[in-house]
Order: sequence, then C-alpha cells, then structure tokens
Amino acid sequence: MAALTRFTQDLIAWQKTAGRHDLPWQKTQDPYRIWLSEIMLQQTQVSTVIPYYARFLTSFPDVLALAAAPIEAVIEHWAGLGYYARARNLHRCARQIATAYGGIFPNSAAELEELPGIGRSTAAAIAAFAFGRRAAILDGNVKRVLCRQFGIAGFPGATAVHRQLWALAEDLLPENNIEVYTQGLMDLGATLCTRSRPRCGDCPVASGCVARRDGRQGELPEAKARPAVPERSSSFVLLTDGQRLLLERRPPSGLWGGLLAPPEGEPAEVAARYGLALGETTRLPPLKHAFTHFRLTLLPMLCQVDAALQVAEPGLEWVALSRAADAGVPAPIKKLIRQVASAGG
Ligand code: ADE
Repeated sequence: MAALTRFTQDLIAWQKTAGRHDLPWQKTQDPYRIWLSEIMLQQTQVSTVIPYYARFLTSFPDVLALAAAPIEAVIEHWAGLGYYARARNLHRCARQIATAYGGIFPNSAAELEELPGIGRSTAAAIAAFAFGRRAAILDGNVKRVLCRQFGIAGFPGATAVHRQLWALAEDLLPENNIEVYTQGLMDLGATLCTRSRPRCGDCPVASGCVARRDGRQGELPEAKARPAVPERSSSFVLLTDGQRLLLERRPPSGLWGGLLAPPEGEPAEVAARYGLALGETTRLPPLKHAFTHFRLTLLPMLCQVDAALQVAEPGLEWVALSRAADAGVPAPIKKLIRQVASAGG
C-alpha cells in the first residue's frame, strides 16, 4: 500500500477501536450542533467546552433560535470561553443562515467557508461531520501530525509550507469513512501526537512516521525562523597592577548602564585617556555573549600597569582582583574577571 493510503487506513482503523466516540457533538449529524462545537473548540479544549456547549444548546436549540436572540444573550453564554469575536461571528453567521439560507445550513465546504467565523478547516470539519463531504481539515494539531509523519521541513506558518500541508491534507483524504478519518486526525493530535512527550508507543501510524524514525519528534514541526540578530564586537581593557583591577562606572544609559566594568576601547586609547603607562599587554580569548537584540563578542586585553600610577578620575575604582568579579559587574565581565583572577592576574 502506498504511504498516504497506509496512513489514512491505519488511522481509520485506530479511530474505530481506540478513538473518542462519546463527545457530545459526536452523537449528532445536525450541522447546527456540529458548527457550534467546532467554533467553541477552535481555541478551547474539550473539557472546558462541554458544559458551555450543553448550556448554549438549552438556551438556543437551533440556528433560528440563535438568530432571533439578542447579541447580549449570546455573549452571556460565552462568558468565560474567551475570544469573544467567536461569539459575535457565531451570531452574525446564524442571522445570515436565517436570512440567506432560510435557516438551512449549506452543505458544501465552499459555501460554509463564506460564512462569518468559518475558516477553511472549520468549513471542512462541518462538511465532513454533518454531510459526509470529502473535505480536508488542517488545524494546529493536524499540522503537527502531518509534519511529523511525513517529515515536512520548515515553519508550518510559512506560505510555501502551509500550501504544501494543505495539498498533503487533500491527498490523504479517504474515499469512504471521511467522518471517522477526520475524527481520527483530531483524536491522534489531541491524545497521542501531542506537542511535548508524544506517546509514539501507542500510535497507530508510528511505523510510517519520519519524525519517529529519525528521533525528531521534538524538532517537528519546525519553529519559526528567528530573524538574525546583529553581531557586535568590542574591546575591553583589563588594567591590573597584579593585585587590583581598574573598573569604570558605565554611563547610566546604554549597554550595562550604571554597572562597573573594565574600560571599553583599545589599550593605547584607554591608557592615554587616564594617563597610564602600559606594561606588558596580552590578548585574551574572545568571549561571546547573547543579548536579546544582538550578540556581542568581547575582545579582552590584559594590560599590566605600574601600581605607583594612581588614577583619580570620578567613576574609576581600583578593585582587588579577588573581589572584582563580585563588584556588581555584568555577567560576561564576571566570567572574564574570574578567568583572569584564577590565572593569577
Ligand atoms: N477539536 C476540534 N474539533 C473537534 C472535534 N470534533 N472533536 C474533538 N476535538 C475537536
């Protein structure tokens, strides 16, 4: 059997024996009830939805009852579910079905998708569950399942990847049992192929799964590519008389504002600034540090200076090498000072 057919058929067989069968909206083919459940389930988990769904149907038993209700009553029934645009669209959609369709839901995914609050995947779910239509769903859970199973590279939100996933979702559709298959995809994504710690041992399609084969469950689906952060480098001069280190209070704004750190700049420049005579100068290994908006490579120079030379500029402090790491310096500087101190200045 080809890989796509295998996936579809294994999923259908699994859904029949191990999938969920007792969710309240599975006991009906009423498009109104299925539509309501799909909207409620868009951003909310099953256990939260169940009591809301029951109360909603008691107050608004069919689409005409909902269309006739004031929006305030609908919002009241939604209170606590969040994403209230869903409730407003639900109400608008009910009114549109009442006026444009005489209270009868259209039975194709294409028509359903034209209605307020019904996107491509929700339209497909309603068409499949209520009308047995062969239509592909693709919500966040399904994207995860497909990316793992078929080793789809790239961020699923990227246009090209998104297109590829829709095409795959369409190609996978079975000739029969669309309701079982659709529910199976949802069940697999919600119960086994979870974002973290997927239960591959219980998965009906584990044998064909690329992520499982390659141990890449944690890497698929891929995360959004982070924009490259700018790289900067800067020289720091560690001036020492063998016992002490010269630290400078940094300006209040900017990088490490107000903290003590070794003077920034080239050794000759720093020495000239403070009237110091430079002794032996050693280049230390560069140190990388990641900030939120850029990466900094610190280029440290260790310079011996004559202890007799005192500097009396405000904001400058000679600090014992043994204490300098704890003098309130930034983290990468602390690391640098520790290396110098442990090497004996
Ligand atoms: N999430 C979205 N639709 C669902 C459904 N029909 N059953 C369970 N979870 C769902």
